[in-house]
Amino acid sequence: MPIDILQTGKLLASCEAALAERYTVHKLHEQADPQAWLAEHGAKIRAHAGSGVQADLLGKLPKLEIIAGFGVGTDNIDLKAAKAAGVRVTNTPNVLNDAVAELTIGLMIALARRIPQADQFVRAGKWPAGSFGLFTELTGKTVGILGLGRIGKEIATRCQAMKMRVVYHGRKKQPAEPHIYYDNLTDMARDSDWLVLIAPGGQGTDRIVSREVLEALGPKGMLVNIARGTLVDEPALLDLLQNGGLGGAALDVFEKEPQVPEAFFALDNVVLSPHQGSATHQTRDAMGALLVANLDAHFAGEPLLSAVV
Ligand code: 8YV
Repeated sequence: MPIDILQTGKLLASCEAALAERYTVHKLHEQADPQAWLAEHGAKIRAHAGSGVQADLLGKLPKLEIIAGFGVGTDNIDLKAAKAAGVRVTNTPNVLNDAVAELTIGLMIALARRIPQADQFVRAGKWPAGSFGLFTELTGKTVGILGLGRIGKEIATRCQAMKMRVVYHGRKKQPAEPHIYYDNLTDMARDSDWLVLIAPGGQGTDRIVSREVLEALGPKGMLVNIARGTLVDEPALLDLLQNGGLGGAALDVFEKEPQVPEAFFALDNVVLSPHQGSATHQTRDAMGALLVANLDAHFAGEPLLSAVV
């Protein structure tokens, strides 16, 4: 018997193709009247492919068995409501660790050396009139990592290769890790040259990087956010970047993506990136394959590969 699954947004082409081979896929985002479609067909849907599932949608899918998320972050899935409804949830961890860690280092060097600005300088024909300037480097600096999870550890390894000293803050000390643990984020920021954010989004971390933390990082301090925009007090960040209270920021994520406060565009001490952490062909293909493998396991009655709920 065919298995009806729902997409509510576009997915990677290779992932959509694999789903279409196995399942009867319905695309809510392509329906003229999504609410009317849900009222008529919601009861036959057994799986949701992709993230972004809230309680109101769950209520319209009474036979839903599983949400197979695309991405490691599950902050845009209502896990509590899913659990209460007996719906399983999977994500796509591990396969993106290297891509995200690579971009983190790329953003750090780009900010330290102002690579995007240097490129603009050459293209604008400004070089003959004088040199671009001197900046900073990673070597010998201390990097504080907020969230020493699977991706955080990959970032730590790469920071060590850049000859940096690694310290970290998180919910708990990890005795097996060689790096110094701070139980207080502000204290870690004060002692760090760089603060790298790679903690999950959601209520527990909402604006955890407060004005106080940013001020502790200080006028020479550099912030890198590769996690979620919600982790940072964005207005305070902007204010401190504008008035010299913070040295610089490399931001891959923002509070209200894809909207980025225009005030960032005028700043020389920032590097901006449009949420590209996992955005390579090889990693996105692996994420899509894991999403599909989780659905296949579920419908074959086998253990899920990466269950969250
Ligand atoms: C993805 C991410 O780009 O995995 C995550 O949580 O933030 C990114 O790697 C995103 O989820 C894909 O839509």
